[in-house]
Amino acid sequence: MSIQSRLVASLTIVLIVSLAFGSALTYEHVLDKVRTEMQAAMSVGLHTAGNAVDDREEAIDPAKRLRLVVDDFNGDRHLRATLFGPHGEVLARSQLLAPDDPAPSWFYRLVTAAEPLRTQLDLPFAFHSIGGMTLEADPHNEVAEAWSDFRLTLIIMAVFFTLVLALAFWTIRTALSPLRDVCDAFSGIGGGDYATRVAPLAYRELEPLRYGFNIMAARLEGMTTQNRALHEQIVNVQEEERAELARDLHDEVAPFLFSVGADAAMIRQFLQTGMGDQVGPRADAISDAVRHMQRHLRDVLRRLAPGALLDLGLAGAIDNLIGFWKARRPELSFGVDVTEERIGLPLDAVVFRVVQESLSNAIRHGQPARIDVRIKILEQRIRIVVEDDGSGFSKDRGPNGFGLAGMQERVRSVGGVVTIRNRASRQGVIVEADIPIGGKSSLERSEASSISA
Ligand SMILES: Nc1ncnc2c1ncn2[C@@H]1O[C@H](COP(=O)(O)OP(=O)(O)OP(=O)(O)O)[C@@H](O)[C@H]1O
Ligand SMILES: [Mg+2]
Repeated sequence: MSIQSRLVASLTIVLIVSLAFGSALTYEHVLDKVRTEMQAAMSVGLHTAGNAVDDREEAIDPAKRLRLVVDDFNGDRHLRATLFGPHGEVLARSQLLAPDDPAPSWFYRLVTAAEPLRTQLDLPFAFHSIGGMTLEADPHNEVAEAWSDFRLTLIIMAVFFTLVLALAFWTIRTALSPLRDVCDAFSGIGGGDYATRVAPLAYRELEPLRYGFNIMAARLEGMTTQNRALHEQIVNVQEEERAELARDLHDEVAPFLFSVGADAAMIRQFLQTGMGDQVGPRADAISDAVRHMQRHLRDVLRRLAPGALLDLGLAGAIDNLIGFWKARRPELSFGVDVTEERIGLPLDAVVFRVVQESLSNAIRHGQPARIDVRIKILEQRIRIVVEDDGSGFSKDRGPNGFGLAGMQERVRSVGGVVTIRNRASRQGVIVEADIPIGGKSSLERSEASSISA
């Protein structure tokens, strides 16, 4: 059921109950009023007629006098006077004032008693020979008046309720229209359009809703852009790795395979031509080539599967990583203090990636002379610190790459916190990560990671 229909239904119920209650009260009031008015009219009529027939001087012609009394009641609103002869025949009857706007008969029947109020006038002795006289209270005029009041009240109530209903309908309609904008915006988000925003709404009360929605949409949009960029980066990295692998295999393996093939052919030839003394050096050359290829294959396998690298343990894997950089940057000095305790996957992999990206960033961007790597386990938490004495974050550095974002995402996914900032007292950058062991899932993950220059 819509809010509008519910409101209309509620107001209609209020209208019906008010009408029923109002009608009951009005009915009581009209009954009372008609009865009181008729009794009052009757007592005034009896008094007036009594005075008229009490006047002795006029009693010279009693018949005429009585007719005059009856005539006096002509045009009365409530009383009808009737003069009877000695045998009950009607000699004269006054005419009641007809109501301008008579009440419908059902209303008349509803508010009047079955028997009309009728009283026989107590005539003095001089009038006894003429007959009798009665006064009868006729409520038609009073009921017509009550009917007209009742109808007016009904009309006022009807107009009032129609206006209230229309106003409520209009108010709810206009109040709901901004919510329709919000619903449309939610549909947009549901359909994947994260650029959807809600424009300022007409009502101040809805401002927090708009504000919250727009923040949510902006965050979703940001996350989607970041995800897309990370995805693209992954694809690029994969492509680069494949190309490098192909180059490596081509440059490092293919020539040695060729030389092994050539040496094997020569050995056969030497044996056929009886130059057996030449076989030894060729066999040695084959062994050398195979050793070279084995070494190279191991390197390739390590690059392809860092998980395999981590089989050496975290400390071993980090030593390996540092060895990799030492071979390429012999001028750099490293300080390594890595716990020998085994943590286990997947935290090992997260720690390894944090150190890998921090080292690569320091060397690529900071030109440091020394890099320190410390990994400790303190009260069920892994604490990683990688600091360099390079140039540090420059104020006008370009937009963030994916390395830091990816690092933060990894640490957050295991419930950890990472901070990356310039060192306070000396030049260089310090990356600090704090990861709970057996900690929170990625759903409960901390939002506290930060990067500051
Ligand atoms: N140790 C550091 N010393 C100096 N600047 C740094 C250091 N680490 C990061 N930065 C700055 O922060 C930026 C963002 O680093 P981030 O790792 O996110 O991206 P990137 O290294 O440029 O690219 P990517 O890691 O995606 O290949 C870098 O471009 C660099 O300007
Ligand atoms: Mg980087």
